Amino acid sequence: MNRVIGYIIGEATPTKGVFISVDPPRLGEYVVLEYDGRTVLGMIQALISGSVSLSEDIHDPQVVERIRRLERGRDVYVKGVVEVLGDVEELRIPRAPPPPGVEVKKADSETLRRVFGERGESSLRIGTLMSHDDVPVCIDVNRMVSRHLAILAVTGAGKSNTVAVITDRIVRMGGTVMLFDMHSEYVNSDIGGGKINPVTPILDPCTLSVGELMHLVNIRPEYHIQEKVFREAYRNTMDKIKRGEDPARFLEILKEELSNGGKKDRVAILNKVEGFEEKYSRVIKPGVGDIIGKFKLGYANVVDLGQVDEECADVVVSHVLRRLLEERKKFIVEGGGRGFRHPVLTVVEEAHILAPTSEDTLSSYWISRVAREGRKFGVGLCLVSQRPKALSVNALSQVNNMIILKLVEPSDQRHVQAASEALSDELLSQLPSLNTGEAVVLGMMVRVPSLVKIDRYRGKLVGSDIDVVSEWRRDKKIEEERKEIEELLDMG
Ligand SMILES: Nc1ncnc2c1ncn2[C@@H]1O[C@H](COP(=O)(O)OP(=O)(O)OP(=O)(O)O)[C@@H](O)[C@H]1O
Ligand SMILES: [Mg+2]
Repeated sequence: MNRVIGYIIGEATPTKGVFISVDPPRLGEYVVLEYDGRTVLGMIQALISGSVSLSEDIHDPQVVERIRRLERGRDVYVKGVVEVLGDVEELRIPRAPPPPGVEVKKADSETLRRVFGERGESSLRIGTLMSHDDVPVCIDVNRMVSRHLAILAVTGAGKSNTVAVITDRIVRMGGTVMLFDMHSEYVNSDIGGGKINPVTPILDPCTLSVGELMHLVNIRPEYHIQEKVFREAYRNTMDKIKRGEDPARFLEILKEELSNGGKKDRVAILNKVEGFEEKYSRVIKPGVGDIIGKFKLGYANVVDLGQVDEECADVVVSHVLRRLLEERKKFIVEGGGRGFRHPVLTVVEEAHILAPTSEDTLSSYWISRVAREGRKFGVGLCLVSQRPKALSVNALSQVNNMIILKLVEPSDQRHVQAASEALSDELLSQLPSLNTGEAVVLGMMVRVPSLVKIDRYRGKLVGSDIDVVSEWRRDKKIEEERKEIEELLDMG
């Protein structure tokens, strides 16, 4: 049953009404109102308490004491503002404002389950309402993948846990995820019931575009002669490989092509190619084949970037995003079964490093491209960051859905708010006080912005907090035991 907590009074608009309370609710609590022939969902946006007799024009404390004795708090009232979210079925805002006298009732779990719970096959549960632990909150996966997602919060607030929950459930649905694992957190997990496909971050230079190669070799567009020489050598190398030369000899052939002639610029380019080989030796290896060929459908494909530095990670992430977008375009535009067969959710951890505000990285270009074009080709983007203000606005503003856990710094909050019109001041003010795993969830993937306690991922994950003290104790105990044994041996 929905309990009456107040009545609408005074003037109201279709989206906002003031009520006088008989049983004060909490801020953020959901309520229902019945008018215009429907049941309408609302949220408590503000609460004000006051007293008729103890009004602000009293300036004598003794008068206050006398009134207090007489009234014993009986004339204290609580007023509130309720924001109209829409009718319970379709969440459409009625044209008429709530009329005065309408009952404001507490929304019961049954009603809330109709709003936040499962709706069809594209629903995916992420947690429960913070205010009602018996009301599951589901997101629409179609809208999440096609309109992208950002998971933002201070360190340790629960971003990786959220990624694990979402990835696990998508894989169990039969979906495909591609996860750039910057700290080797997921690669040894049991996400998706063990459907993890570790992908070694090694690229075949044959699959790099000439533009990518020139960037890595450090041949800038303004070095016209170097560019011309390099392009020609690259073309000849690829021709030779097409005619049957071993792709594993790509770099040797390229260097042979470059040294033909021996002009001054060729020597400079050769030096650069050698520098490139040395710098990227961890992630570039001729003959390994196309990295996209190593991804599996229906799996969480984890590219383990834990062992490579930021520059190499940038190369790998940008290349994979570019190739994936190309392969999905091929599948959709050319048809005939060519290209990558599944829509994919790509997850980029440490997004502020790969797509920073301050500089143009290779990845920031491809992250923005996927953010803009991914919707048409079924490539979703999930950006994860603990420093939102360092994350490129260009990328962030293309992201429609957000899961924002605890976020303390006002500059981070402002940056996020600038990128998302759905983040109201009221929701923003909740962010600093959220506990671990609690989040504001907004965007097209949810029917209304909501405060959610994200489920805890129950499986194995590496990045969880380390129990520091018990590890120290364990080592101390081992040390003590060793000493005891030594003493015993000495005595013997
Ligand atoms: N929804 C949740 N319920 C319960 N515990 C949680 C939840 N989310 C996170 N935790 C716990 O909080 C700790 C930190 O979580 P997590 O690793 O997801 O944070 P993070 O935001 O990814 O941190 P970092 O910025 O360091 O990557 C973990 O030990 C995890 O078990
Ligand atoms: Mg994390």
